[in-house]
Amino acid sequence: MATLSNNPVYPVVWKQDRVVLIDQTRIPQEFSVVEISRSGDMAQAIQTMIVRGAPAIGVAAAYGIYLGATEIKTDVRDRFLTELEVIAAQLRATRPTAVNLFWAIDRMMKTARQTLGSVQHLRETLLTTAHQICQDDLATCKAMGDYGVTVLPETPHKVRLLTHCNAGALATAGYGTALGVVRSAWTAGRLERVYADETRPRLQGAKLTSWECVQEGIPVTVITDNMAAHCMHHGMIDVVVVGADRIAANGDAANKIGTYSVALVAAAHNVPFYVAAPLSTIDFSIPDGSHIEIEERDSAEIYKVGETMICPSSGVDYFNPAFDVTPARLIAGIITEFGVFKPEDLKAALFDKQAQ
Ligand code: MRU
Repeated sequence: MATLSNNPVYPVVWKQDRVVLIDQTRIPQEFSVVEISRSGDMAQAIQTMIVRGAPAIGVAAAYGIYLGATEIKTDVRDRFLTELEVIAAQLRATRPTAVNLFWAIDRMMKTARQTLGSVQHLRETLLTTAHQICQDDLATCKAMGDYGVTVLPETPHKVRLLTHCNAGALATAGYGTALGVVRSAWTAGRLERVYADETRPRLQGAKLTSWECVQEGIPVTVITDNMAAHCMHHGMIDVVVVGADRIAANGDAANKIGTYSVALVAAAHNVPFYVAAPLSTIDFSIPDGSHIEIEERDSAEIYKVGETMICPSSGVDYFNPAFDVTPARLIAGIITEFGVFKPEDLKAALFDKQAQ
């Protein structure tokens, strides 16, 4: 079982009877943890982004369901399942965009419904399933990392890779999706440097991606979000790899706000743009990205940096969508644990695997 450390980074760790989360709101100032033993506290940790990133919130929610199962006092199966549905609804309501959250909760609830025997046996099976979701995600990230290396462009020098937000170990069970590709490329001796967009408003690139790179000694340059075009124009970027929160059946991919502009800029400079995401991030139930609900967050994320007001205190309106959708036509390939696919081939290649 994973243990807490800053290298390797495991953001969601089960310890005896509780979940230990790396508090991602405090990195890089400090490496601290939050212990969660109640499902309501897990819902709050997801909502306040103590734990964040699509696969990581899926894993956290799976443990949240188990914690909820231990809070339910009845041993009558039907009543137990009804009460568990209420807990599942509370966890589902935390964040709307990342489909991994719903995927993990659905899997836990399916396990609950299909497991026969006593309620105590059901609780134990739920814990086993949460562990499985966590371990599978780690293996999935490693597979994605290795496939990602195979599509890095051949360049006269080692590859300079731009990423947006944090799709690293912190955003998964460990290792990362886009940063998993970075880790594998670094190990394979293919990587020169990572360029990390700072990722306003919450600065996941500046705070988390750069921190993860520092833990592993991977050279990293943080740029502000408006610098990618300049860097590409000057030939400083060979490839873009980002993560995703939800990918529609046609390959349209929702990821952190600003990803779409990076994809447009990459297309204008003939820089290949890849999305690294596990099968659990693909939502074949929606035909295209227009069906993806985009989370809107508190406007304070825009007008404050830390405790400092950076806008006039009144007379200004704000709009703070947390994600955007990159159209499939801008994506060179989607890196999954089963290989790398063109967006238009995704459904034919993977639909059956998800149905299994
Ligand atoms: O709002 P966040 O920090 O949860 O957003 C995270 C992202 O957008 C990541 O890029 C995405 O979840 C992929 S993580 C492997």
